[in-house]
Amino acid sequence: MADMVNTVLILNGPNLNMLGTREPEIYGSQTLADIEALCAGQAEGLGVGIDFRQSNAEGELVDWIQGAPDCAAAIIINAGAYTHTSVALLDALRTANLPVIEVHLSNIHRREAYRSTSYISQASDGMICGFGGLGYELALDALANMLNSA
Ligand code: DQA
Repeated sequence: MADMVNTVLILNGPNLNMLGTREPEIYGSQTLADIEALCAGQAEGLGVGIDFRQSNAEGELVDWIQGAPDCAAAIIINAGAYTHTSVALLDALRTANLPVIEVHLSNIHRREAYRSTSYISQASDGMICGFGGLGYELALDALANMLNSA
């Protein structure tokens, strides 16, 4: 039974609600609901719970990260374009002080140069990019490992 001790908060930033129709040549045809279902299946197998959310608003993401220590043991975050701009998300992640894995569907290092810089990597234990929705499952695997060995 999942509780706060083994719940992973999975945060998705702006425009990820548009997956499925958004630039399919880059992001594929999976919707965010498809990815949530993948995560739920993976989490069940690992014996962890998930709390899966999406927001287009930077402040709402900050609020959720601030609340994370009260409801989760770790964070997976795909901050979308805020990855490349948001010191506020970085500061919030540092303050939450939980294990953090950063995920990107696309390989951000093979795209426009401005996507290669991630502010939030400064607060991340690791980053997985370029594997589409599978990246979220890999991140859950990594976190379950970290939580089990803690
Ligand atoms: C993204 C990559 C970002 O550069 C972009 O702004 C996104 C999605 C990804 O998952 O590949 O919104 O985070």
